[in-house]
Amino acid sequence: MLEGKVAIVSGAAQGLGEAFARKLAQEGADVLAFDVKDTVADVAKKIAAETGRKVVGMKADVSKRSDVEKVVAKAVEMGGVDILVNNAGTHRKTPVDSSWEQAVADWDFIMDTNFKGVLMLSRACVPHMKEKGGDIVNISTYYVLPARSDGTNQPDTDLYNASKWALNGFTDSWSKSLEEFGIRVNALCMGATDTPMLRGIFPNGEYPADFAKLVMKPEQIAQQMIDLFKDGRTGENIGAWVGYPVEVGPRKAPNKRISGVA
Ligand SMILES: NC(=O)c1ccc[n+]([C@@H]2O[C@H](COP(=O)([O-])OP(=O)(O)OC[C@H]3O[C@@H](n4cnc5c(N)ncnc54)[C@H](O)[C@@H]3O)[C@@H](O)[C@H]2O)c1
Repeated sequence: MLEGKVAIVSGAAQGLGEAFARKLAQEGADVLAFDVKDTVADVAKKIAAETGRKVVGMKADVSKRSDVEKVVAKAVEMGGVDILVNNAGTHRKTPVDSSWEQAVADWDFIMDTNFKGVLMLSRACVPHMKEKGGDIVNISTYYVLPARSDGTNQPDTDLYNASKWALNGFTDSWSKSLEEFGIRVNALCMGATDTPMLRGIFPNGEYPADFAKLVMKPEQIAQQMIDLFKDGRTGENIGAWVGYPVEVGPRKAPNKRISGVA
């Protein structure tokens, strides 16, 4: 489905980013996979060997403008930018009664990657996407959607939550301003998905037995992304909830697409 396309995936050394990179390559795209971790090079080699696609692994930090520019220049060398997956994200607990110093340090750490990184990478890509059109996918969280079986917005991760709520502004504004160029902008808003980040939240990295049965797999979310491309909609927050089928679902009414309808 994606033959001849070039995709950029941020934070692709593990977890959801690795699954997105693999799925895009399986669907025929060439992929520029980058991460702050060196191991992204090995992950890229493995995906290239599995799929026969060109998959380039680059060590780069999405919160650094010069790194972002190098990533996009490399993608342009590979043929352009058709798909951008803004996946790189960091998670930290910042209880509201934590120290001023911790709150401000966490603000910089989280926002530089989860929010400013998305701004810089997307802005660097858009000029290259305008001629052919394409897809921007922001990786958000179900916290920005109405609660289903589980509550949203964990109380001790206020900055992480805020960084993902902030993405709503980008998803909504860009989907409107880039529609005339055939650039679709959506967000995937998943609940608990089995990745190193999620395991890091649990003691010894182990899920409680009942939860382990329910937690979603990154491959399910990657398939949801491909289904979203096939659907061709823009400007939506697409949810994925633990215990429910992972699907794109019916299109939302324009005034419901960002707040979401569960
Ligand atoms: N796993 C979940 O349950 C879950 C739920 C909702 C949303 N998310 C979101 O999904 C995305 C991926 O999360 P994950 O669970 O796979 O996490 P993860 O920590 O397992 O993987 C994230 C990857 O991003 C990389 N990264 C972090 N900062 C970076 C930076 N500045 N530049 C480049 N790479 C950077 C990390 O090195 C890591 O390889 C994140 O945006 C996260 O907030 C995850």
